[in-house]
Amino acid sequence: MTIAGTSSPPPIVQAVVRPLTRAAIFLVVTVNPDDASCAKARSICGDLAALVRSVGFRDIDGDLSCVIGVGSEAWDRLFGPPRPKELHPFREIRAGARHAVSTPGDLIFHIRAERMDLCFELATQIMASLAGAASPADEVQGFRYFDDRDLLGFVDGTENPTDRAASDAVYIGADDAAFAGGSYVIVQKYLHDLPGWNGLSTETQERIIGRTKLADIELDDAVKPTFAHNALNTIEVDGKEVKIVRANMPFGAVAQGEFGTYFIGYARSPRTIEQMLDNMFVGNPPGNYDRLLDFSRAVTGALFFVPSATFLDGVGADAPPAAAMTADVCAAAPAAPKSPSRDGSLGIGSLKTRAPS
Ligand code: HEM
Repeated sequence: MTIAGTSSPPPIVQAVVRPLTRAAIFLVVTVNPDDASCAKARSICGDLAALVRSVGFRDIDGDLSCVIGVGSEAWDRLFGPPRPKELHPFREIRAGARHAVSTPGDLIFHIRAERMDLCFELATQIMASLAGAASPADEVQGFRYFDDRDLLGFVDGTENPTDRAASDAVYIGADDAAFAGGSYVIVQKYLHDLPGWNGLSTETQERIIGRTKLADIELDDAVKPTFAHNALNTIEVDGKEVKIVRANMPFGAVAQGEFGTYFIGYARSPRTIEQMLDNMFVGNPPGNYDRLLDFSRAVTGALFFVPSATFLDGVGADAPPAAAMTADVCAAAPAAPKSPSRDGSLGIGSLKTRAPS
């Protein structure tokens, strides 16, 4: 990828764009404020690729990958200036009975694999590396449910962009050249009122989602309400649709009556997802909100910047401030892959994949 504004070879990106896996762990932690804790947090940034290789190589077909993201306030503590242009704390939204809460989180680890044991082992190794330096804010173990359905019974992920369109949607380019190859991620943990939802007729549910339930076909515009989930989440700028990449996963605890969807959305600008959240919670126009929220409550909400893998490679416990590192990212040739992957291309779990053009 040639990134306008940079004359060097492109940075290597993190494994943001991946096929849906059978298992995932979403691990959010807060980092203690002292210097030693920040140094440990920086170390994990630099060491993560090696950890993924160590765990992933135990079952290369397990396709283990991990994306790390850094919260707004943590960025200043860990790296200092400059900051990714659009990094800021998650903006909470209150509208009627609906509330998109903002909850703590300095680092997120989005761990994906075909086997939960791989995810579990990597999460364990990450927490061991951060011992004494970070506290868990939230951990969710997600699973794939039948044919990629959420626990509301609808296929989730159909309209995700793929290939080049996905890369274009998530990876920063000349828009913030110092952080090219990076991305933004917003997460929200939703709990569903499943008895309430299941009390609706299938037709009503379909009008709320905007697709048919069994066959997953998009409703015709003639019958699709303007408040349908997929209508409110279609964002156009200058007549062109702006996509995001979602990797939502169901989770739950049956005995506790907990049934949830972990929403995770990646984009090259957080504005796109924020616009979607406004449309869902406030409504478009205001009041024409997403009826999914009558049956789904957000209990977490956080925003992170996902640096490029090239950036992470340059981080050590005593890393120079981001100012020096971003200059390196723009100037240095991308690191060679350190180990083979199952497709013979880049590192295990493709933590390292070249940024697309
Ligand atoms: C309760 C949590 C959520 C559930 C259960 C859910 C479920 C779904 C389902 C079933 C679809 C239709 C199939 C598909 O294209 O994937 C969909 C589409 C979509 N959702 Fe969600 N979603 C949730 C939250 C969110 C949030 C918070 C956002 C963004 C802020 C979002 C953004 C989108 C987008 C962009 C689409 C594709 C629209 C299109 O192009 O047709 N979703 N979601």
